[in-house]
Amino acid sequence: MKTIAILGYGTVGSGVVEIIGNSNRRSGSGIDISGILVRNACKYKGHSHFKSVTENFKDVLTDDVDIVVEAIGGLHPAYDYVRRSLESKKHVVTANKDLIAEHGAELLEIAKSNGVELRFEASVGGGIPILKSVSDCLAGNSIESVTAILNGTTNFILTKMEEEEMQYDEALKLAQELGFAEADPSSDVLGLDAARKLSILSTLAFQRKLDWKEIETKGINAVDSSDFRYAGLNGCSIKLLAVSRLLADGVYASVSPVIVKKGSQLGRIRNEYNAILVEGDAVGDVLFTGKGAGMMPTASAVFADIADIMNNRKVKAETFDYDDAFVKTQWENEAKWMLRIRTGNRIGIMKDLTGRFSNCSILAGECGEHGDEVAAFVRAGSEAEIDCFEDSLSQEYDVRDFRKMMVLEQ
Ligand SMILES: NC(=O)c1ccc[n+]([C@@H]2O[C@H](COP(=O)([O-])OP(=O)(O)OC[C@H]3O[C@@H](n4cnc5c(N)ncnc54)[C@H](OP(=O)(O)O)[C@@H]3O)[C@@H](O)[C@H]2O)c1
Repeated sequence: MKTIAILGYGTVGSGVVEIIGNSNRRSGSGIDISGILVRNACKYKGHSHFKSVTENFKDVLTDDVDIVVEAIGGLHPAYDYVRRSLESKKHVVTANKDLIAEHGAELLEIAKSNGVELRFEASVGGGIPILKSVSDCLAGNSIESVTAILNGTTNFILTKMEEEEMQYDEALKLAQELGFAEADPSSDVLGLDAARKLSILSTLAFQRKLDWKEIETKGINAVDSSDFRYAGLNGCSIKLLAVSRLLADGVYASVSPVIVKKGSQLGRIRNEYNAILVEGDAVGDVLFTGKGAGMMPTASAVFADIADIMNNRKVKAETFDYDDAFVKTQWENEAKWMLRIRTGNRIGIMKDLTGRFSNCSILAGECGEHGDEVAAFVRAGSEAEIDCFEDSLSQEYDVRDFRKMMVLEQ
């Protein structure tokens, strides 16, 4: 029999309680829930677990507890509660990517020095078993790259914008109404949530510690219907991609809207689904896909960590004890890019585009109150070449807006 305390009884916490109940009934897994910590206990009056509910952390951190499940979210008080649980020699399982991205290395050290485990499979990809797969199942590989849709909210919004021709605000509102987006969606739509997840995943994949704040991050809030129209002309779609690549002299890492082929492995991922394409030197490409959030998918991953701890199964996804990665934010290889330039001088810009890039196809641009737009697909030797072009245009012409979006050609 193992005794578990649960911090948080919202979406994830209640899913974990349900899976524990199902597992106890199905296989007699022998898990006792000793206490559930919430902010407002009154909410749970009449609930079957109401007797276990408390607002006081000390009530749940009792001597008999073996494992603490943290499902509160955010940094505070989650950090304090997780630290105190580990120092009290309790194993901890969490779904909290904010906490792991910010304090993972320190908390894993505290766990190690107290002889207990800190597990966080659900913090990346929700129900998709990705961290253990990368650290353990692909242990025979040097992981070369990770290309992923790590945020279901933004994938849902982009799908609605593309398939139902919704405007960004309209699609965001729908996502909020359906519970896919939070009241304050900024962490999702600005790409911060994906950057935190990418840092955790890449740290384990490349065995180099990646600070999420060093990742170049661009959200989907500026993506508009013209982006989809131009991408569509090339049989492509737009996804918020979290990309990391192991380089000889560092790690490239970015989160940004990227143009992908509609029928490609990532182009096919719709709505709130997540997908993670991992490239290993031995295995080649492996695609993991499934629900990256939601009550039961996330609880499924939390329960897997609980089961590992109960069965004394050690995994490698338990350390961030690696050297810091030198994070590169510019794409240094050849790639295709979509450029959109708003200007008072279309003819001049078009001449410069064709003069500068040998491989350039100009699309029918738009005329508008903020200037006429020139849109083009170009091939450049590096991202720096695109940035240099932007600088030279700005010196020569009245450039009112310059946008670039990379095209993933695999
Ligand atoms: N939701 C998902 O699909 C999903 C997927 C993957 C990972 N996660 C992660 O899982 C964690 C939990 O997310 P969630 O969606 O389950 O959150 P949630 O539905 O908002 O639930 C949070 C729970 O924590 C409790 N809580 C909040 N502040 C507290 C405090 N100061 N002291 C004690 N209890 C407190 C709340 O109590 P009350 O009930 O009294 O308000 C509530 O029960 C987050 O780290 C999130 O990023 C969530």
